Amino acid sequence: MAVGINAMPVTFVAHALAIIAAIMVLVWTISFRGGLAWEATNKNLIFNLHPVLMLIGFIILGGEAIISYKSLPLEKPVKKVIHLVLHAIALALGIWGICAAFKNHNESGIANLYSLHSWIGIGVISLYGFQWLYSFGLFFYPGGSANLRSSVFPWHAILGLFVYILAVGNAALGFLEKLTFLESGKLDKYGTEAFLVNFMAIVTILFGALVVLTASAKSTSSSPPVDDESNYSYSAI
Ligand code: HEM
Repeated sequence: MAVGINAMPVTFVAHALAIIAAIMVLVWTISFRGGLAWEATNKNLIFNLHPVLMLIGFIILGGEAIISYKSLPLEKPVKKVIHLVLHAIALALGIWGICAAFKNHNESGIANLYSLHSWIGIGVISLYGFQWLYSFGLFFYPGGSANLRSSVFPWHAILGLFVYILAVGNAALGFLEKLTFLESGKLDKYGTEAFLVNFMAIVTILFGALVVLTASAKSTSSSPPVDDESNYSYSAI
């Protein structure tokens, strides 16, 4: 299954949305919510690391890892290394971001893992880690047989997109949850901050949609497949 569009221009719009979302989350946490810190008496500053690391680290870098095959004019073996390294960084920053949420809860005396957002979050990060580990062993080192690689590849692509869509949806849930907490305090429901958070969620969803569209587009590469992963493109689905 491949969508008949040229992926490259779509990736430019995706990069632009990624930059906008990254600026929005930094403006929100630093200018509206007091800043970022790993150690602080104001525990909200520890929480603020959570959306920053989850959005810039996990969602944006993870999305860039997925579209790297279509967005970079490089040889496939180089793109493969970029793909797995970007996913590794996204996974590491995602784990750090979740640790920041736990640290904030533990130091503020708040219960852990009580919300749907947190349950889906644990599911997403576990599936992401699982996907990275078996894919590293199968497609990179030590590597499986050509037959095994080509039969597992469609599962790699479909699970990768499924987990990514779940991650974007869960980020939207996280924005909703935090904004609802703030609005049940004193925050103006139609104020600047409320609009900033809601638009940030929309930009995140649009970025996620373009990542999925890019991944589902036909590979524009004119070179023949160099390995058994069907041209190593999500359009192999
Ligand atoms: C895919 C990205 C995300 C994942 C995997 C994720 C995961 C998690 C996890 C596992 C927790 C539980 C921490 C604990 O119980 O101590 C949590 C808490 C929280 N997260 Fe996220 N998160 C993500 C993105 C976001 C974003 C973008 C926001 C926006 C502000 C956010 C807001 C919250 C809030 C308010 C909490 C505390 C309340 C709760 O536990 O539900 N999250 N997150």
